[in-house]
Amino acid sequence: MSSVITLPADTNPARLQRDRQESVSPATSKATRNPKATARYLLLKRASVRPTPALYFKDLTAIAGDSVIANPRIACRRVNVHYGAKHAIRNLTLDIGRHEVLALIGPSGCGKTTFLRCLNRMNDTIDGCRVTGEIHIDGRNICHDGIDVVPLRALVGMVFQKPNPFPKSIYDNVAFGPRLHGLASTPAELDQIVESSLRSAGLWDEVKDGLGQMGTSLSGGQQQRLCIARAISVNPEVILMDEPCSALDPIATAVIEQLIDELRQRYTIVIVTHSLSQAARVSQRVAYFHLGCLIEVGSTDVIFQNPRHKLTEDYITGRFG
Ligand SMILES: Nc1ncnc2c1ncn2[C@@H]1O[C@H](COP(=O)(O)OP(=O)(O)O)[C@@H](O)[C@H]1O
Ligand SMILES: [Mg+2]
Repeated sequence: MSSVITLPADTNPARLQRDRQESVSPATSKATRNPKATARYLLLKRASVRPTPALYFKDLTAIAGDSVIANPRIACRRVNVHYGAKHAIRNLTLDIGRHEVLALIGPSGCGKTTFLRCLNRMNDTIDGCRVTGEIHIDGRNICHDGIDVVPLRALVGMVFQKPNPFPKSIYDNVAFGPRLHGLASTPAELDQIVESSLRSAGLWDEVKDGLGQMGTSLSGGQQQRLCIARAISVNPEVILMDEPCSALDPIATAVIEQLIDELRQRYTIVIVTHSLSQAARVSQRVAYFHLGCLIEVGSTDVIFQNPRHKLTEDYITGRFG
C-alpha cells in the first residue's frame, strides 16, 4: 500500500500559497497561466451564455446586428419572395449604405441571388416569382407597379457570375446602353462615354488600340471588366455583382477586387461571394443569409471576428456551408 497521500486540489499548500500571491481564485489562476486553457475557458464561457442552435432556429425572424442604418441608399422592408410555393426570401429588412460594399454570404440556395435580383426587379423576368414588401432606392419604392424597369436597370446595374459580353465589338458593348438611353447627342460624346467607362473599369489602356475587336475575344478577366464598363456607361448609382470572380483566375480576381475598392468611391456595390476571404477583403459590411432569412448583418470586422449569431459563426468557421 502506498504511503503517499494526495491532497484534494483546494487544500494543496503550494497551490493555496500561489493563489494567495496572485490574489485570484484557483480556477482563474489556472486559466491565466495556460494560454490554451484560457482560450478554451473563454470559449466555454461564451458558449455557456448562448442559446442552443435550436433556439436560434426558432428565432430566425430576429436579425442580429444593424440591419437598419442612417441615410441608406437602399432600404428594404419586409421583403418576401416566392417561386410558386417555395418561400425563397423571408421577411427581409435591410438597409444598404452609400459608397459601401455590402457582401452577401451564406450557403448555396439561401437566397443571395434572389435578393440581389429584387434590387433591380430582375425577378420580374422569372415566371411564377412573386415579390412583396418595399424596396426604396433613394426614397423611391421600386416595387411599385408604376416603375419603369428600363431606367431602373440602368440605375441599378448588374454583373453576372460568368462574363457575358454581347457578340459585338468592345466599343459597341460599352456604347449599347448609352445609345439605348440616348445619353450622347454626338458621336464625340459617345466616344467620351465609352472611354471614361473603360477607364473606370480599368480596361482602357489594354483595349484602346483595338476597340473594334470582339468583346468575346478578350480574356475572362478583361471580359468581366468590359461588363463592368458596360454597367458604368449608363450612370448607375448601384452595381450588383453575383459571384463576379468565380470564373476567373487569382490574378484576374485580384484586379477586379482592386477595381471594386475604387468603384466604391462613386457607387453602392452589393456583391454575392462564396469566398469568405473575398468578402473580408472587399466589403465594409457583410450580410449572412440562411434558408431565405437574413440572420446577421454588421461591419465586416465584427462579422468575421465577433459574430453575434451562432449560425454566422458556424458558417464563417467552416462548420457548414
Ligand atoms: N427560377 C427559380 N425557380 C424556382 N426556384 C428558384 C429559382 N431560383 C432560385 N430558386 C430557389 O430559391 C432558393 C434560393 O435560390 P438562390 O437565390 O439562387 O440562392 P443562392 O444564390 O444563395 O445560392 C433556392 O431554394 C432555389 O432552389
Ligand atoms: Mg446564387
